[in-house]
Amino acid sequence: MSRLSSVGIIGTGNVGVAAAYSLFQQQTTGRIILVDRDRRRAEGEAMDLMHGQSLVGRVSVLAGDFPDLSECGVIVITAGVSQKPGESRLELLNRNTAVFREIAAHLDHHAPDAVLVIATNPVDILTYVMQHLSRRPPERVIGTGTMLDTSRFRAALGDYYGVNPRSVHAYIMGEHGDSEVPVWSTARVGGLSIHQQTINGRDFDAQAMQRLFQGVKNAAYDIIARKGYTNTAIGLVISHLISVILEDQKSVLPVSVNPAGTYGLADVCLSIPCIVGREGIEAQVAPLINEEELKGMHDSADVLKHSLQGMQL
Ligand code: 2OP
Repeated sequence: MSRLSSVGIIGTGNVGVAAAYSLFQQQTTGRIILVDRDRRRAEGEAMDLMHGQSLVGRVSVLAGDFPDLSECGVIVITAGVSQKPGESRLELLNRNTAVFREIAAHLDHHAPDAVLVIATNPVDILTYVMQHLSRRPPERVIGTGTMLDTSRFRAALGDYYGVNPRSVHAYIMGEHGDSEVPVWSTARVGGLSIHQQTINGRDFDAQAMQRLFQGVKNAAYDIIARKGYTNTAIGLVISHLISVILEDQKSVLPVSVNPAGTYGLADVCLSIPCIVGREGIEAQVAPLINEEELKGMHDSADVLKHSLQGMQL
């Protein structure tokens, strides 16, 4: 096995375990290391997965601590504290920043060359926080951002047009949250513009598309109202992003990054399509968007900057 081909997962809650399960099944890596404050929980999850080895293949899953992450090419952070009764969002953010500060110090010491994938919510804020706390270059700290919303969007459009979602190319950009931006102007099905062309007998229907987008935007609320959390699709998103990085695929994915001037935005993290490879973010691939979409991106940045105000970084 080449150096830095292992994957670390920090946090073995519902999301961390779904990511581990998906990585295990896809055999993206030969070694997965689970780190959790509750060591016994991480051990239990590792044991449980290892019992599937005869069905999947020889992927080692181990429970470990920060020093065990030195061989990792990618480390995903799903850990964080949850809101206490009566706690404000800002107080929660400050507590999560304290957790991230501790994690950043350990990772900079033990795994300075790994690409970090941030999945803990609010993901855009915590990606920005980690880019500040870690000494590694910002292109090596990537938030899952709107990859999940984009996947939901493509699935819904695929359903609407009666095509495989893999033949749908459409992005949700901006915040992973209420201010996210559907980019209709570049949305394509099999290369056809959904704005301008009839696809499988369907013209662009602004009302139907708004309903479809509302469904995408509210998906997490709808799922949480039913099962209490979301984990399986974000687990697939994380394992996909990890394989893109480890295999140096150079795929274009909408991930949370600092735009550093793109669309006139900076000093915040939000999702823009980027080329992702072994070194992390290799380039931003910002599509030409219309005025309304550009305004949406600025509104998203304002919402996020508002959350960052008053934080103790
Ligand atoms: C989701 O969108 C809650 O971020 C989580 O499913």
